[in-house]
Amino acid sequence: MVLFNVSRVETTPFGDQKPGTSGLRKKVKVFKQPNYLQNFVQSTFNALTPQNVRGATLVVSGDGRYFSKDAIQIITKMAAGNGLRRVWVGQNGLLSTPAVSAVIRERVGIDGSKATGAFILTASHNPGGPNEDFGIKYNMENGGPAPEGITDKIYENTKTIKEYLTADLPDVDITTIGVTSFSGSEGQFDVEVFDSASDYIKLMKSIFDFESIRKLLSSPKFTFCYDALHGVAGAYAKRIFVEELGAQESSLLNCVPKEDFGGGHPDPNLTYAKELVARMGLGKSNSEVEPPEFGAAADGDADRNMVLGKRFFVTPSDSVAIIAANAVEAIPYFSAGLKGVARSMPTSAALDVVAKSLNLKFFEVPTGWKFFGNLMDAGLCSVCGEESFGTGSDHIREKDGIWAVLAWLSILAYKNRENLGGGKLVTVEDIVRNHWATYGRHYYTRYDYENVDAGAAKELMACLVKLQSSLTEVNEIVSGIQSDVSKVVHADEFEYKDPVDGSISKHQGIRYLFEDGSRLVFRLSGTGSEGATIRLYIEQYEKDPSKTGRDSQDALAPLVAVALGLSKMQEFTGRSAPTVIT
Ligand code: G6P
Ligand code: ZN
Repeated sequence: MVLFNVSRVETTPFGDQKPGTSGLRKKVKVFKQPNYLQNFVQSTFNALTPQNVRGATLVVSGDGRYFSKDAIQIITKMAAGNGLRRVWVGQNGLLSTPAVSAVIRERVGIDGSKATGAFILTASHNPGGPNEDFGIKYNMENGGPAPEGITDKIYENTKTIKEYLTADLPDVDITTIGVTSFSGSEGQFDVEVFDSASDYIKLMKSIFDFESIRKLLSSPKFTFCYDALHGVAGAYAKRIFVEELGAQESSLLNCVPKEDFGGGHPDPNLTYAKELVARMGLGKSNSEVEPPEFGAAADGDADRNMVLGKRFFVTPSDSVAIIAANAVEAIPYFSAGLKGVARSMPTSAALDVVAKSLNLKFFEVPTGWKFFGNLMDAGLCSVCGEESFGTGSDHIREKDGIWAVLAWLSILAYKNRENLGGGKLVTVEDIVRNHWATYGRHYYTRYDYENVDAGAAKELMACLVKLQSSLTEVNEIVSGIQSDVSKVVHADEFEYKDPVDGSISKHQGIRYLFEDGSRLVFRLSGTGSEGATIRLYIEQYEKDPSKTGRDSQDALAPLVAVALGLSKMQEFTGRSAPTVIT
């Protein structure tokens, strides 16, 4: 066994290590500054209780983006230096964010050990490569992201840090499955490299009826396409969709994980998942080839998902509502009923209508998956989702891109259980249109203004808050822009009191609520690494089944005009159009 020594290395604080919505995300060059990563890692260890450090088991892996391999070696040495007992690494440093959550919750080591936390190395849907983003976040014992109490403590520590602990271990081979053991003055330290997919697959098999999905996927009537955008989902897609469920290998697009995501932007939306969008017949291409019945994409770390039907886009807000409405029938894990459902504030109210009709507990939380975690730990929520292409359940404490695809495939398999031999296939589009006919439709769109001047974005938001003090003035402006939209009856900044721990989160987005149930929401993104991103969420409810089939951009055009006018978007940002529309 290789012997190691621990040393204390002097360091000085960096002023910019405040974790955002999902950990610390910066350009790779920022992370490459001497001691930058080390300071953050030590500040995290210092923020944890001693039993989660000394003698503990830590998972370290991520979406495989550029700089991950270096980061894994640095963190492993620091883990040994800080007296941890072992580090678990997915083969080649790959573990999707949902798989990390599953590993923390479910995996038992050879000697019965369990992990108490993880460093997830990802900047999620942000591009990767030497000139792009890297990120790190800490997840807790329940498998969910560290709560604000911990991330605040980490940030405080980063401001005063003077030294970090590290061990003089050699670099560990993370390409080969197996255990490497080292010996320090306080005892043994192991690095265990394990298969990235098997724990996760085991969990999925305990949730879904793989046999019925296999029947669907192997039926010649059903065609399928999955785009991993060169993110870590590729490490799971072949194993699950092809090997376990019988899909054709040719149905996988961009499923080889790459450090730079093939130069693309690994965000599963209509703008960035270009190849899939074209293949599904949604782009401008005039291809003669018949698109598949079902398409889906994931982001870099595979917690997000986009679901498409043939020439048909499913909004994430509808997706979670439809999963909730069908879960009990179609997914064995939920057969005893749902404990409750939840959505983030800017997500459309489609889920609210389902919750009301099925008499389910319902929660509206601020943006950020961590808010769902508390509800799930307290047994209050089974299914939840966000407009930002996140959907999941209480099987783990992260959103789960592949789970969402399996949920949709389960619903399709259930609806088609008698149609696969003969009869007309119930399509994704049929499922969505039937849902609208039953529950009404929430027309929904999101406009993103990326990388705008941070000062201008703040001013725009401040003006919108100020405007809220006079609804008369607001309504004068609204009717001046568009005479045929209904009146604003309430406006506020969303504030949330966590029903489990009583904590209060303020300034979670600016809302304008209209008499007919329409909503405009303005928020600043918490996940960017440069400048500011303004998000504008626009929603309108239509109950009349004869009016639920319109094009959503047409239906929402009057509200869009109101939103742009009310916020003076062009005046503040200089932008005449958003960067991305979903
Ligand atoms: C991450 C979180 C999500 C959240 C999203 C918001 O993906 O995990 O829970 O919805 O960020 O991103 P934004 O850029 O809008 O702050
Ligand atoms: Zn992600």
